[in-house]
Amino acid sequence: MNRPPEGPGLPGPSVHSEKKVTVPEVRSAKGSGRKIVVLTAYDYPTARILDAAGVDVLLVGDSLGNNVLGYDSTLPVTMEEMLHHSRAVARAARRALVVGDMPYLSFQTGRRDAIRNAGRFLKEGGAAAIKIEGGRKRADLVRALLDAEIPVMGHIGLTPQSVHLMGGYRVQGKKLDQARALVEDGVALERAGAFSLVLEGMPESVGRAITEAVGIPTIGIGAGRFCDGQVLVFHDLVGLGEGAPPRFVRRYANIGDEIASAVRRFIGDVREGSFPSEAEIYSAPAAVEVRKAGGT
Ligand code: KIV
Repeated sequence: MNRPPEGPGLPGPSVHSEKKVTVPEVRSAKGSGRKIVVLTAYDYPTARILDAAGVDVLLVGDSLGNNVLGYDSTLPVTMEEMLHHSRAVARAARRALVVGDMPYLSFQTGRRDAIRNAGRFLKEGGAAAIKIEGGRKRADLVRALLDAEIPVMGHIGLTPQSVHLMGGYRVQGKKLDQARALVEDGVALERAGAFSLVLEGMPESVGRAITEAVGIPTIGIGAGRFCDGQVLVFHDLVGLGEGAPPRFVRRYANIGDEIASAVRRFIGDVREGSFPSEAEIYSAPAAVEVRKAGGT
């Protein structure tokens, strides 16, 4: 197994100990010089591979909707769907911190709903923390969640649950007043007690300004090079998504093409009768052989 470089803050994976990454460790990784690595995960086999490879945080994102469930946005995703996938990821995670993403309408309808749903991620979903979208307007909710012992990762910038308000998936903070508002959002969430912040879809300069303004780690996705960590959607990273990936994605594999080619070969082998071969069948002892020589 290739081990990621060790550094202060987050421990690397070890054959001797599979000590879990904790919320305080992620929080204190800021300024350690070791970038935090986050990937989305939605199922057991993928989470097992990502965890063993040394990813620090497995985010059970509500991007589950687009990437796994076939929805055209994250808006239809339900708590039950999120919990189902969170449990699968948590079963696989030996080292990585598991963070559950609060889906649309699981927290916008009031504090009580939000605490109950966030708590379900910890109680039933095996997660150690939750993520919520939104800036200053979520500060009071972050405090309430902390009062209920629930660690919170913030998420500002391009927040996909606001797709209709934003008029599409648009880079945020391009104008000076919007950029300043995003910095204020970050600072407000830190003051409220968030342990880290996802910064999505913003100019690099704004990602940098927020990263410098807060004492908690920023995890960028399309937010430039100066964030304290980076997150990508796993399906984008390995080429399992539909269509061309966004500009900020680096594609490290083309698993979709690999799967298509493997399946085409299987179809060919079955149709031409070369699968299964003699090595791929079970034989009965001669006494149990029911097929008569020459018969059917
Ligand atoms: O749902 C998700 O996958 C996310 C990441 C893109 C940060 O929120």
